[in-house]
Amino acid sequence: MDRVLSRDIKDHEGKEAELVGWVDTRRDHGKLIFIDLRDRTGVTQVVFIPKNKELHALAEKLRPEWVIKIKGTIGKRPAGMENPKIPSGYHELQATGLEIITEAKTPPIDVTGDGREIGEEIRMKYRYLDLRRPRMQKNLRMRAKVNKFIRDFLTERDFVEIETPDIGKSTPEGARDYLIPSRLYPGKFYALPQSPQQYKQLLMVAGMERYFQIVRCFRDEDTRGDRQPEFTQLDIEMSFTSQDEVLALIEELYAKMVKELYPEKKIKWSPFPRLNYADVMAKYHSDKPDLRDDKNDPNELAFAFVVNFPMFEWKETEKRWDAVHHPFTMPQVKDTDDFWAKFKKDPASIPAFQYDFVLNGYEIGGGSIRIHDPKLLAAVFEAMGNDPKDIQEKFGHMLEAFAYGVPPHGGIAPGIDRFMMILENEPNIREVIAFPKTGDGKDLMMDAPSEVSKEQLKELHISVEEKNKKK
Ligand code: AMO
Repeated sequence: MDRVLSRDIKDHEGKEAELVGWVDTRRDHGKLIFIDLRDRTGVTQVVFIPKNKELHALAEKLRPEWVIKIKGTIGKRPAGMENPKIPSGYHELQATGLEIITEAKTPPIDVTGDGREIGEEIRMKYRYLDLRRPRMQKNLRMRAKVNKFIRDFLTERDFVEIETPDIGKSTPEGARDYLIPSRLYPGKFYALPQSPQQYKQLLMVAGMERYFQIVRCFRDEDTRGDRQPEFTQLDIEMSFTSQDEVLALIEELYAKMVKELYPEKKIKWSPFPRLNYADVMAKYHSDKPDLRDDKNDPNELAFAFVVNFPMFEWKETEKRWDAVHHPFTMPQVKDTDDFWAKFKKDPASIPAFQYDFVLNGYEIGGGSIRIHDPKLLAAVFEAMGNDPKDIQEKFGHMLEAFAYGVPPHGGIAPGIDRFMMILENEPNIREVIAFPKTGDGKDLMMDAPSEVSKEQLKELHISVEEKNKKK
């Protein structure tokens, strides 16, 4: 007997079939019992008739979310009973056998609706149930399609997918690092990457020329609707490239992806406009303007690039100039002498080869052409307030690598979570992430962060001050 999925039952009319899945709903109509059986492809209506007493009695026990195996014959639904909204809606399974695989407690949350009215705490605590709802299933399945499209597109264009370490050295991306204490080296720490920025540049020194990775990044900053402590980037780096080439690649990728995977969406402009940072700030008072004609239209996508960001901004808390993007970004200067001349005159006036990718009021990506001249790179580190010792400690490995034949290079990193949120018309990125953290940075399902044993702390050479412990 064939194992059939809900989406395929229409092709098995008149045949015997076996289905497995969850009891989505149960309805008793007089003596008939109807079950909607849910599998990964949808639901199938199953009918139990009273004639087969034993089977009918077993079906009477069924409750929502029980896992079952059903055998039966696939037939047409009676006239007037069809449901044209679902692919299996013209057929039903007349049950001849039922096996209860596992029973289920009554779920603490409804999993059949879209769940928008349910409190987030309970959804997160029971995330594995929350993910059963069709909306969440669709979000995760579409996210997988987006990832696959990206992989295929870039691989066809000679890009190589390369994994970089999660346990490494802190890279300055402007956020706080998550640190990992070293067991073998007391008092020393690894950092989780805020992005693989330095690794991808070192892959250019290594001659890979075209790199990409769909990669997790970690930033210890306050969580918001469009921000998670861990999130996913499509990280890209190219050698012998230009700003125009990077932006053209991203535009082609995103336009093709939307056309294939979200044909109902309308892209406002082609080509995507490239707007000057200063003009955008003057006109919209934001570096990520929402450029849609109709801001209530979820199917309109107004992609744009914002270019020519300033290289530096004044950081009042630290009383120093900081890179707007990161210190590896190329300032628009002729050489190191020209850089110092301009920096001494007015640091804020130096533009950089830096660009943001914006969509409907969100920053969905950022990148830059990088400095490949080690002298200029050292000058930028110095301009940001690092003395020669700091530079050597923090960035010596980059300066050394750049002494061995470095190609000019640049790249970009679009965020996957924000893009999915916009495509799926979701109000925050938690809705497109399988296991996100709550607004206050907790994993309520696994109960993290949590305390660890004294032995673990001792091994890591760590002592925790009792007075600072917080629930
Ligand atoms: P940047 O820091 O601008 O650049 O990050 C790139 C993109 O990543 C997304 N993003 C986030 N998404 C969710 N939660 C967060 N906390 C979060 N932080 C960032 C955004 C953002 O545009 N290494 C550089 C890229 C490069 O220069 O190539 C970088 O990480 O969509």
